[in-house]
Amino acid sequence: TRRTKISELLKSEQTNIDVHVKGWVRTKRGNKHVNFIALNDGSTINNIQIVADPNSISEDILKKVTTGASIAVNGKLVESQGSGQSVEVHAETIEILGVADPEKYPLQPKKHSFEFLREIAHLRPRTNTFSAVLRMRHAMSFAVHKFFNEKGFNYMHTPIITGSDAEGAGEMFRVTTLDAKNPPLKEDGSVDYSEDFFEKETNLTVSGQLEGELGALAVGEIYTFGPTFRAENSNTTRHLAEFWMIEPEMAFYDLEDNMDLAEEFLKYLVQYALDNCADDLAFLESRLIDEEKNKPANEKSEMTLTEKLRFVAENDFERVTYTDAIDILRNSKPNKKKKFQYPVEGWGTDLQSEHERYLVEKHFKKPVILTNYPKDIKAFYMRMDDDGKTVSAMDILFPGIGEIVGGSQREERLDILMSRMTEMGIPHEEMDWYLDTRRYGTVPHSGFGLGFERLMIFVTGLGNIRDVIPFPRTPGNAEF
Ligand code: 4AD
Ligand code: MG
Repeated sequence: TRRTKISELLKSEQTNIDVHVKGWVRTKRGNKHVNFIALNDGSTINNIQIVADPNSISEDILKKVTTGASIAVNGKLVESQGSGQSVEVHAETIEILGVADPEKYPLQPKKHSFEFLREIAHLRPRTNTFSAVLRMRHAMSFAVHKFFNEKGFNYMHTPIITGSDAEGAGEMFRVTTLDAKNPPLKEDGSVDYSEDFFEKETNLTVSGQLEGELGALAVGEIYTFGPTFRAENSNTTRHLAEFWMIEPEMAFYDLEDNMDLAEEFLKYLVQYALDNCADDLAFLESRLIDEEKNKPANEKSEMTLTEKLRFVAENDFERVTYTDAIDILRNSKPNKKKKFQYPVEGWGTDLQSEHERYLVEKHFKKPVILTNYPKDIKAFYMRMDDDGKTVSAMDILFPGIGEIVGGSQREERLDILMSRMTEMGIPHEEMDWYLDTRRYGTVPHSGFGLGFERLMIFVTGLGNIRDVIPFPRTPGNAEF
């Protein structure tokens, strides 16, 4: 017999029907006369209650129904007498599929800390929080494809192994078949890559953008959605060494068009979560409310998770230039001491995340799109503004997160692009393929990158990026 998923059973309009369910036991309670089993199969955050009568189910079987065990139940779906659920299953037979020794099973029916659960990443999807995250990652991935498909964008697969450094930040993981500790050397002492697999130096990609531009300048509008890798040694709650990025790239878009698309995209994704992940969001929200009970009043958030999501989905983002933002920060009084931990040095320096969060959370109290950054703190491909000092960059800053999107209009003018590359020490020969797009039929174009896990932090309300990806890779940590 085929099983019915618990998500379906809980919605069933028919009762007094024979059903077959399978899943993992969350808890069992009861007495000599009756047993209540909370069963979960991951199709929903909610459990179904199995009612087992010790007169019809043997003691030997019931003994093995412990937290974590997997079981198959045949029984009748009936309206529930108890509060908290509308239907329950009265078991006729229970088959033990797999036992879970209660003395050893690490996921006991109690609250575990996220730190503990990170150490058992192989089992944590079986908890409420992590199963919710897994389902929501799927829902948000699907929404990404749906959004772009409806707009006529093409999903483009860009290489994972590349020879270029798109961001020019030198934060790449080397890919090599050479003996890394003892590579063959040329006469001048440099590594002899002619013996390497690709016969050149290669890395894991830090961004699919440059290849994405090639697609946009052929079919108009593309997006990538794939893993990206950064060997930046930042041990923060916002950085991973392996993360997923969505990078749309559009021909004939200027910076304004780019911002409009990015804002529409983020609002769409957040609204999609509200519309399609209601049960998981309700659970995550109650988790947060629980967590905040112990916090002092001034640290409690003003909005619940769903209120926060609704606010972002329904209100326009603030658009400000970098130059105006610096003025705001200089004239601000962030706390009683009236100081930032990192003072705003002045025009030309990069913003720290405390500055970004001040702008979003204290000053504007809404998402902010910061534009026209100084050229020296941005990548070589960004379009030079007429003032010769700033570039047509845009970063989107979100509450609780800081930067969630980075993008720009691209430099489409061959001569200016080449002199920018010279200025930044990027050899032209290696990027000749990129320069060809500017040599032949160049057009104004723009794009941006959304960090998928930063989005997931926002929609789940979780505080650490390690908890919104199944297998986090961070400095010193690459389990499995
Ligand atoms: O700002 P970034 O470095 O921009 C790019 O890579 C461009 N090529 C994007 C484009 O224009 N096509 O990264 C884009 C976004 C960031 O805003 C952030 O959300 C995320 O990627 N991101 C990270 N997420 C998790 N861990 C990291 N180490 C990240 N680095 C960037
Ligand atoms: Mg950035």
